[in-house]
Amino acid sequence: MKYLTIFLMLSMSLMAASPEVNQYMNELSTAAKAQDKTFTGFDATRGKEIFTSTYIGKQGKSISCTTCHTVNLSNSGKNSLTGKVIEPLSPRANAQRLTSAKEVKKWLKRNFVDVYTREGTAQEKGDVLTYIQNN
Ligand code: HEC
Repeated sequence: MKYLTIFLMLSMSLMAASPEVNQYMNELSTAAKAQDKTFTGFDATRGKEIFTSTYIGKQGKSISCTTCHTVNLSNSGKNSLTGKVIEPLSPRANAQRLTSAKEVKKWLKRNFVDVYTREGTAQEKGDVLTYIQNN
């Protein structure tokens, strides 16, 4: 019974992203390894840190990923710039999440600049995607 639960949890986390987003994460992993020989894999704990830390963003104001997406990824968020509702970021709460590599690339790039005023590194992007995938 215990092993069945573990197996189900593993399959859920593997199913959380589409094949093309998994492929993108493999590319990020290769790039992260090329940039840092000591890299051993993405880490959801580092990803959480990236997701929840507050910085002075592009607009010159305190902002974090949670400003728009909230701390609970199963909840809807709100775009702090436009006021528009944002559907939940968690693939468990929103089946459309982490299905399109194009969408993921576009928004990660834009959102990293919004918060960190720079594009994330391959490792940072992979860490934060791992966090989103598991929450
Ligand atoms: C200023 C508001 C805002 C901030 C801050 C923000 N996001 Fe977003 N994010 C959005 C919007 C708007 C979308 C696109 C609309 C949608 O997909 O619902 C989006 C989409 C995404 C997506 C696309 C997911 C998918 O599969 O569709 C990811 C991944 C993402 N954000 C991650 C992040 C991360 C990581 C941070 C922090 C570095 C962050 N966001 C900060 C507003 C924001």
